[in-house]
Amino acid sequence: MISSKTQFKLQKETIKFLYGLVEQGGPKTHEYQTFTDIVNHLKPEQVDSFREIIKPSLNENTLIGHGFVKPYGYPGDFYLIHNIYEQKANPDPKYKSWDDFFLSQPAAHAVRNRKEFFLKSCRRLGKNGKDEAKVLILGCGPATDVKQYITENPDSRIRFDLIDFDQKAIDFARSQNDLPNGSIEYFRINVLRFKPYMYYDLIWSAGLFDYFKEKHFIYLINKYLKNLAENGEFIIGNFSHLNPTKRLMEVLSDWYINHRSKYDLLRMAVEAEVDEDQATVEMEELGINLFLRIKNSINGST
Ligand SMILES: C[S@@+](CC[C@H](N)C(=O)[O-])C[C@H]1O[C@@H](n2cnc3c(N)ncnc32)[C@H](O)[C@@H]1O
Repeated sequence: MISSKTQFKLQKETIKFLYGLVEQGGPKTHEYQTFTDIVNHLKPEQVDSFREIIKPSLNENTLIGHGFVKPYGYPGDFYLIHNIYEQKANPDPKYKSWDDFFLSQPAAHAVRNRKEFFLKSCRRLGKNGKDEAKVLILGCGPATDVKQYITENPDSRIRFDLIDFDQKAIDFARSQNDLPNGSIEYFRINVLRFKPYMYYDLIWSAGLFDYFKEKHFIYLINKYLKNLAENGEFIIGNFSHLNPTKRLMEVLSDWYINHRSKYDLLRMAVEAEVDEDQATVEMEELGINLFLRIKNSINGST
């Protein structure tokens, strides 16, 4: 129990409701809206009290707790992202409803949708008639998206270069992608420091640029643009400022990212010396994950 001094900051009814959720392993479907309303209306000074009440659930047994604890030192690690893709909830009833709740959030759907966006881009490349298409992924994480592509396209002619600065993410990605037909190379390095040594038909990055400040965002566009092959595309995912799960991510999992608008993305592309008519912004079906698509307009590799 939290001290009465802390408790007075939240309404008694809210406190009772929250203790009930902890007891039953998270909100049930009919409680989602009430719980979300509580989180969305918390005042900044109430967040600590709120977290204190749900503390028994904010540990590595739940996905929200994994986000909060950050066992690999940063939010949105390969484990969390993989579990979102696979919709894997902890079967233990002490925690399951928290995971079901988290996995049902619009942002989790948007992450799964972005995998579809990636798959579509790869399928297009796979059909472009080239002997071998080259794809570079910045911040590959679990590479569950690559695994799905290779599994569904065993005769794939795509060669993937995967970059991540977390050795654990690389190990996990490698363990998932130990497939006979896969042509994958892994690089454990910071994307700010990697020196690309070839031209790519697709440079893909999702769930990474959201963490960068504008300065680095712009720097990275400019840096990698130079390695686009003729007609190549650079696609950068970034969560929209309209993400309805933003507050839940921040309060439950202490997970902060730079939410951006379509106009922010286009402006940064132009600041990175991209011609205006080279850049467009698309989105997955929920409009939560935006994709800045930059086409190489130059004939021949840059
Ligand atoms: C949220 S995950 C996204 C994974 C994957 N792109 C996806 O969409 O499924 C972000 C990944 O980027 C990696 N990462 C973060 N900052 C990085 C950096 N500066 N250089 C290389 N990798 C980075 C993290 O280790 C993590 O695995």
